[in-house]
Amino acid sequence: ASAVPFLGAHQAGITTPAQDRLHFVAFDVITKDRARLVSLLQEWTAAAARMTAGKDAGLIGAVGGMPEAPPDDTGEALGLPPSQLTLTVGFGPTLFRDAQGKDRFGIADKRPAALADLPHFAGDALRPEISGGDICVQACSNDPQVAVHAIRNLARIGMGVVSVRWSQLGFGRTSSTSRDQATPRNLFGFKDGTANLKAEDAGLLREQLWAQPGDGPDWMTGGSYLVTRKIRMLIETWDRTSLVEQEQIVGRTKGSGAPLGKRAEFDEPDFAVKGDDGEPVIAEAAHVRLAHPTQNDGARLLRRGYNFVDGSDGLGRLDAGLFFIAYQRDPRKQFVPIQTRLSRHDAMNEYLRHVSSGVFACPPGVRDAADHWGRALF
Ligand code: HEM
Repeated sequence: ASAVPFLGAHQAGITTPAQDRLHFVAFDVITKDRARLVSLLQEWTAAAARMTAGKDAGLIGAVGGMPEAPPDDTGEALGLPPSQLTLTVGFGPTLFRDAQGKDRFGIADKRPAALADLPHFAGDALRPEISGGDICVQACSNDPQVAVHAIRNLARIGMGVVSVRWSQLGFGRTSSTSRDQATPRNLFGFKDGTANLKAEDAGLLREQLWAQPGDGPDWMTGGSYLVTRKIRMLIETWDRTSLVEQEQIVGRTKGSGAPLGKRAEFDEPDFAVKGDDGEPVIAEAAHVRLAHPTQNDGARLLRRGYNFVDGSDGLGRLDAGLFFIAYQRDPRKQFVPIQTRLSRHDAMNEYLRHVSSGVFACPPGVRDAADHWGRALF
């Protein structure tokens, strides 16, 4: 029920032990006025600092203000504890230049090279209306009402300056970002997050997660790049697949999550071992083989995704899957090569459809009360 500190060298919500619930939103900026955008970012920062501490979004609060005016908090989180709420902000490529190449807010020369548009991947079935966005906010909390309240109030405060482009609810974190957490399961029923970057891996976090001095523009030093992919999982087809085939597709056992041929969850996979039939025990097309750092020049990701079920699709199937979230130092060296390999060869693809995509530059943390989201950028 406790609060996660809002201020810090890095934004909370990245290495913070993954909470159980997600509300992720992407906004389009609808004003042309740079000053209005900057003052919104200031207002948002103040509201985020209050809400992550378990307080109302505004200074007066949901009740107690002038009866003639709409309250400065919507009220549905009154009485609820902070519930580990974190709010993590990111800036998308289109904030820097619009589709016509116009420098919208005089920040085009500050766009990091690492914030490159993602290439098209084999099999992509992306829907533009639920992809991209100028600014994103990831709200994670152990209470879904607290996460939704936070996003709702940021959207309310942003009225006239931003509009909600798309948003996504998630449950059942599909990753651990700390060794204190047990590994949860995704909707294929497999443990997800076993071989993840974790908060305790200080050296690897420096090397793989946080933008370092000299990587790009200074305003991103200490920040991280976020890739989101909404991945529909064809679970009815998966559910008709045999256990042994499911395990071969993943490359791990369903029960313990151990790599095939090994005993325990955290044993290192051995990709060289062959079975009696002469075939590799972990198949060439197995997801964990293709995604493993040894196959990708050492590249790793901090995965922080959530399951989703958006009801059913009208054809008798659940509209379900994984809202994939990954943080990294440079998507050009991490997500892009890994997903290029997966999109071509992963045996799991038969059961997946990537329907939305986003890439965002998440700046370092807010330092003190005078600092605000995007201060060093604008
Ligand atoms: C590992 C499932 C999409 C990257 C795993 C594992 C599972 C899994 C069960 C093994 C447990 C673990 O180490 O976490 C899924 C499902 C996906 C999906 C169901 C789609 C719905 C992706 C995508 C990427 C990715 C899009 C990146 C482009 C990884 C990586 C690992 C991994 C890097 C760790 C590999 C290792 O070091 O052993 N995934 N995954 N996954 N996945 Fe995925």
